[in-house]
Amino acid sequence: MLTDVLVIGSGIAGMSYAIKLSELNPKLRIVVLSKRNLLESNTKYAQGGIAVVQNFQKDSFDKHIADTLKAGDGLCNKEVVSFVVKEGPDRLEELLNWGTEFDQEGEGFHLGKEGGHTAKRIVHYKDKSGHQIQEALIKKIKSIPQITILENHTLVNLITDHQLEQGSKRRCYGAYVISSKDQRIVKIVAGLTVLSTGGAGAVYNKTTNPDSATGDGIAAAYRAKVTIANLQYVQFHPTALAPDYNGKTFLISEAVRGAGAHLKNSKGERFVFKHDPRGEMASRDIVARAIEIELKEPGEKVYLDCSPIGKEVFELEFPTIYQACKNLEIDPFTEGIPVLPAAHYFCGGIDVDQNSQTSLSHLYAIGECSHTGLHGANRLASNSLLEALVFAHRAAVHSNDYFENNSLDLVEEQIPNWKDTDIIKDQESKVIGRLKSSLQELMSQQVGIFKSNQSLQQAEKELEKVYLATKDIYENKKLTHQICELRNLVNVAYLIIKQSQNCKENRGGFYNIDYENL
Ligand code: SIN
Repeated sequence: MLTDVLVIGSGIAGMSYAIKLSELNPKLRIVVLSKRNLLESNTKYAQGGIAVVQNFQKDSFDKHIADTLKAGDGLCNKEVVSFVVKEGPDRLEELLNWGTEFDQEGEGFHLGKEGGHTAKRIVHYKDKSGHQIQEALIKKIKSIPQITILENHTLVNLITDHQLEQGSKRRCYGAYVISSKDQRIVKIVAGLTVLSTGGAGAVYNKTTNPDSATGDGIAAAYRAKVTIANLQYVQFHPTALAPDYNGKTFLISEAVRGAGAHLKNSKGERFVFKHDPRGEMASRDIVARAIEIELKEPGEKVYLDCSPIGKEVFELEFPTIYQACKNLEIDPFTEGIPVLPAAHYFCGGIDVDQNSQTSLSHLYAIGECSHTGLHGANRLASNSLLEALVFAHRAAVHSNDYFENNSLDLVEEQIPNWKDTDIIKDQESKVIGRLKSSLQELMSQQVGIFKSNQSLQQAEKELEKVYLATKDIYENKKLTHQICELRNLVNVAYLIIKQSQNCKENRGGFYNIDYENL
């Protein structure tokens, strides 16, 4: 297959990029790859919303910038923070034009508040903002004839110079992808390639991400020698529902604390105040650590007491969470919701410039898989969808400029086809499942919220075994999307461990107990 642009990933970043580019240049052929189906992406699970300054009487760009910088603990790129915050209202306007809806109050939006924010500025749709956005974007993208959507396709490898004859220049030429329906490898040759593959929460056994969050873009970029930065800053969301819900870890939005809920230990103490005067409204890194410390006490549990919100408001504003509690027979107002931290977001990723260009020519990265410098060491709540929109827009404008000055100079036949090997044996998928569980266990035990030099060393040693077993299957058996995902998880886990070992100070979401008193 030959196309002008290949977009790998179909969350808010990938879809808004494709929609914007098709508006800028309706002649371009754009292929959008979706790993499962168009609805299933990390975006769908975003409950909170989008942080955008709206009420200029009580809020300002400067306040949003200051909150982002404070949460990022000294590691944000100030220029990036400034333009992302200031471009927010325009991007929100576009999103509305593409069919999204947000809760209204009076003349404007109903604005929520989350940890680390000093003003109400979260534009949201009840507690299912991401789901609402994703559905609107799906409707919009399906109405654009020059966009081809390929569902059930997973990235295998980026195509770079080393797959070509000697002397060809170093750039991205598209990707090999695998169909999860029939495990067929498809070669997609593209003038420009965009990674919008999201994060990699699935390296941990407790994550608010869907199981498709296996870091495919980050891993494929790493294998293609693209610069990857700051993967040690994994953000753990403080409040995931402690018991599984429908077999998964379920998010209890930070907006619940923003609306007034209290975090308590089993003695009924609001323990977060021991760590930060903002209490429950401190940034995520601080609240997640505070909870983890409580939970280290044998038999201890942490609850989110929602009685200060009141049943009526809670039911209205958080219908999804209310329903989950009801189904599990949890009363949020008397006993409180049992919560614990879970892997949620990668503040680092594929390093990009202000136009979303990576260190490999003709390759962009947008959304969670990228590292723009906005989040620093810890992302401020609800800044992720904002970042995705702003950088998708910038990438689309930059891509359009590219095609105004260059025509597609590739021929499909120039790029070699994928060489496949033997037939898969039945038991491999069970082995893959076991290897994935071992990886998740070792990352959760040794590379979680609190790390140490010893735990990182132990993790590296244990990962080596998973790596060798994965490599053996990858190289000697027929490819499946499951082994591709496992290989990506192994690569991302390796990068988290290595970048954690190289990090010699505690900041934001990174905490190594050996540096506690330095
Ligand atoms: C939440 O609703 O707490 C998640 C939103 C986010 O990750 O920014």
